[in-house]
Amino acid sequence: MESFSTLLRTASREQHEEVRGSTFIGDLLGRKLGIDAFARYTEQLWFVYGALESGARRLVADPVAGPFVRPELFRMAALERDLEYLRGPGWRRTVSALPATLEYAERITACARSRPADYVAHHYTRYLGDLSGGQIIRDTAERNWGFAKKGDGVRFYVFEEIPNPAAFKRTYAELLDAVPGGELERQRIVAECKRAYGLNNAMFEALGEEFPLTATRSGQVSVPDGPGRRPRSIRPAGARSGSGSPSPG
Ligand code: HEM
Repeated sequence: MESFSTLLRTASREQHEEVRGSTFIGDLLGRKLGIDAFARYTEQLWFVYGALESGARRLVADPVAGPFVRPELFRMAALERDLEYLRGPGWRRTVSALPATLEYAERITACARSRPADYVAHHYTRYLGDLSGGQIIRDTAERNWGFAKKGDGVRFYVFEEIPNPAAFKRTYAELLDAVPGGELERQRIVAECKRAYGLNNAMFEALGEEFPLTATRSGQVSVPDGPGRRPRSIRPAGARSGSGSPSPG
């Protein structure tokens, strides 16, 4: 019989391809968007991981989700260093979640409270993605915006305490394979994983709306200047204008 980890990967392949091919990610990595868009995405991640990691702390002793709570995965400290670098020391005053991000974070929190198996689906979708495709994003971001290799701005993508990601992912697959419960439970986790991808997609769509590319007559694309938007810049600095509620999870 197919292992659960394999089932989860194959069952969510289509959703993975969808997020991977999202316009926002394509524009960001294709260097069509500036560092401001990258910083805005990093802000959204702060809310998502706030929910994931406050949920994790609550679930340490849970028989289903507990084994997945691995401090070496925690991303909040890295995200906060990145945001300080990208937005400046006052970043907490200006950081704000998009409605789609809030919806995503709320779903994670609800799962952590009442459906630990569904929480596992969210855990898998983000952390395994960060350990895999996240490395491609880091590499591209370093080249696009001149971040120091594995340094400030991209620390979120650097798992200092996981020297061998391939081995870690194998252990993680074993944890997935050992999740208690029958076929029905597994199907539920698969469904929640697809939902997690959908929530990521909605977040990317919202980011895409905030950072649209407009086609010019010559067929080239340009980034429009708008209220609250700084011109594309290679230098990350200072706080962004705008209001926000600085409280993830
Ligand atoms: C530029 C965007 C992305 C690229 C290029 C990318 C690429 C990849 C690649 C190459 C793998 C396979 C790694 C391996 O076999 O070890 C992978 C795995 C994965 N990615 Fe992505 N990815 C991207 C975005 C995302 C996003 C946004 C998510 C979720 C929100 C995600 C979630 C995952 C997950 C959960 C896995 C692990 C699959 C498994 O082994 O079970 N990826 N990604």
